[in-house]
Amino acid sequence: MGEDRLHVVFGTGQVGSALAAHLAGLGLAVRAVSRHRPATLARGIDWRAADVTDPEAAADAAKGASVVYQCVNAPYSQWPELFPPLQRGVLAAAGRTGALLVALENLYGYGPTGGRPMTEDLPLAATTVKGRTRAAMTAELLAAAQAGRVRLAIGRASDFFGPGVTQGSTLGERVFGNALAGRRADFIGNPDLPHTYSYVPDIAAGLAILGTDARAAGQVWHLPGPPTVTTRALLDLVAGEVGHQVAVRSLPKLAVRALGLVNPMLRELAEMAYEFDQPFVLDTSKYESAFGAAGTPLAGAVAATVAWYRTRPGTS
Ligand SMILES: NC(=O)c1ccc[n+]([C@@H]2O[C@H](COP(=O)([O-])OP(=O)(O)OC[C@H]3O[C@@H](n4cnc5c(N)ncnc54)[C@H](OP(=O)(O)O)[C@@H]3O)[C@@H](O)[C@H]2O)c1
Repeated sequence: MGEDRLHVVFGTGQVGSALAAHLAGLGLAVRAVSRHRPATLARGIDWRAADVTDPEAAADAAKGASVVYQCVNAPYSQWPELFPPLQRGVLAAAGRTGALLVALENLYGYGPTGGRPMTEDLPLAATTVKGRTRAAMTAELLAAAQAGRVRLAIGRASDFFGPGVTQGSTLGERVFGNALAGRRADFIGNPDLPHTYSYVPDIAAGLAILGTDARAAGQVWHLPGPPTVTTRALLDLVAGEVGHQVAVRSLPKLAVRALGLVNPMLRELAEMAYEFDQPFVLDTSKYESAFGAAGTPLAGAVAATVAWYRTRPGTS
């Protein structure tokens, strides 16, 4: 399958590494790019060190690519200063190479929807600092595509979980790690509302489709994942996997705000608390109509994640 086409994945973090492995598993030529060599790298992936804020280094790393994937990320508390320049580096590299740019985004740009399911045609009306940063970054991508400087497909996913996801996620260490250790799952907001959680292997598969199916270019796509249930229903599945009840320690918003005065991560989470005060549902029907449904059943996704947490390096 397409050995002449080089797929270059910028970012070897939680999604980038899964995407690179998925693409390599499809038999595609894959280069993965980040500043530090990742601890593990799937077989057959050519890793290249580059800082994407250096345009020459980024362009060099993208040389020969037919598809470039934007999976870099900035520290959660420094999005306004650090994230846009990262994406600009990837965007410029894709433009110079003439590659299709497949950009992964989250849903922060939409802002609160009053519980209405999110479809791709929703305006980007974010009210938070990180949401406005993301919306401005989307605008930069779309402007470059409109001006003919790059061919673009955007894939959006919700708060994610999965093997390898520990930090920077609602369903990371504070839920899966705590549950396995017999501690309460930390959660901000109302766990009894429907909330779409994306599953990293599904995100990887979805981005790979955007990079390999000619119909994807020029559009925004919501990437499919497991069916949407309430957070509590998902935690019940986690409980079934770890073999004991998982109690939820739900922090009230006011407490999160107060603690945020001294804890930068809680300060950043506080502004996103609206996601958990109302239903937060991603409509993926556009993708499913075009490319077919591709979400993993929720129970299987939870089981695979718990299994990874049980055997991850450092777990005795
Ligand atoms: N967290 C969620 O629930 C969620 C949900 C949906 C979408 N997303 C989006 O998914 C995307 C990827 O997130 P992630 O969690 O997979 O990221 P991540 O695990 O934080 O990894 C970020 C990657 O970016 C690389 N990077 C950072 N600065 C760089 C630089 N100057 N030059 C080159 N590489 C650089 C890092 O490697 P080095 O440090 O080695 O350079 C790392 O490999 C983000 O846009 C995020 O908003 C996240």
